[in-house]
Amino acid sequence: MLRMWDDFPKITAPSDEESVVSIERLTLLRPDDWHLHLRDGAALAAVLPDTARRFARAIVMPNLVPPITTVALAAGYRDRILAALPNNPHFTPLMTLYLTERTSPADIAAARTSGFVHAVKYYPAGATTHSDAGARSLDRCEAVLAAMEAHDLPLLVHGEVTDPTVDVFDRERTFIERELAATVAKFPRLRVVFEHITTRDAVEFVERAPATVAATITAHHLLLNRNALFTGGIRPHHYCLPVLKREVHRQALLRAATSGSPKFFLGTDSAPHARHTKEVACGCAGIYTAHAAIELYAEAFDEVDKLDRLEGFASCFGADFYRLPRNTAVLTLVRTTQRVPAELPFGDDCLVPLRADGEIAWSIAD
Ligand code: DOR
Ligand code: ZN
Repeated sequence: MLRMWDDFPKITAPSDEESVVSIERLTLLRPDDWHLHLRDGAALAAVLPDTARRFARAIVMPNLVPPITTVALAAGYRDRILAALPNNPHFTPLMTLYLTERTSPADIAAARTSGFVHAVKYYPAGATTHSDAGARSLDRCEAVLAAMEAHDLPLLVHGEVTDPTVDVFDRERTFIERELAATVAKFPRLRVVFEHITTRDAVEFVERAPATVAATITAHHLLLNRNALFTGGIRPHHYCLPVLKREVHRQALLRAATSGSPKFFLGTDSAPHARHTKEVACGCAGIYTAHAAIELYAEAFDEVDKLDRLEGFASCFGADFYRLPRNTAVLTLVRTTQRVPAELPFGDDCLVPLRADGEIAWSIAD
């Protein structure tokens, strides 16, 4: 029988009211930053309030000069962080040790007993800022990795090979092939955080890996692809390591971060450098995002209409992975544009934050 057009269900355009449901206000459990650079001295005092305003806790990276290699050094650094924040009892720094070829199983046992050292960070020697003291490979640290597995202390990895013959855009993928896959296989109970992942390859590796493996994702890798390094000229304030990648990788990171998978959680890698050390012939790697970190993540999640997934990523999955309680206080974001200053004070210097002299679509409600 011939059907008339009227027999078919009608597809009607949604009314204006139905089609756009825009979230204007978002209350989250207070988030934590699972990857942060705070530096020391006057620089520390300058940047710490930005993080403490937004986050309850932060995993503090140990790449100072000299690096934080022992529990005693971590204790001193922790005291300096707390002293730099005299009026805020609500922020807790979570300390890390810097893995060297001299780190011993006894250092790991002491870290576990300390109660304030929560992980050990592997910087392949020469991979990034202040990584000269790092181990040359994970192979050279097997006794320490075994101790970390036994004491259940997570390994945090800067996942890039340093082999100068490997293209800089392939260094993360090659690290998976040459080091990470073997380490995960050899230490099946070792918890590993693949830090600041930047590629689809890393997303897929983490998805397929056992539940002991997780990853942090930065706001800048969710918001920018490598074109941002060269827009109208060379852009040193968009240079970080691992370097920004192609759009296809940014899309993979966005999918992972907003997937609801507990393997992916927030780690800003906010890495402040004085302006003059970036605007120079050989500039430092690092992007400062602490001034508006959670707001920048809100922009990224909003871009793919997944603001409802922000709380898991920012406030729950990291705490669960580190086996710490989730926060109970909350933070409210509002869709109100904020203007970012052209520069911020940084001790005797200044630094240029992400979006300097521009706008961010979200703000914190006071
Ligand atoms: O861009 C980066 N900056 N990547 C790192 O791995 C280190 C960081 C820093 O400490 O400046
Ligand atoms: Zn970092």
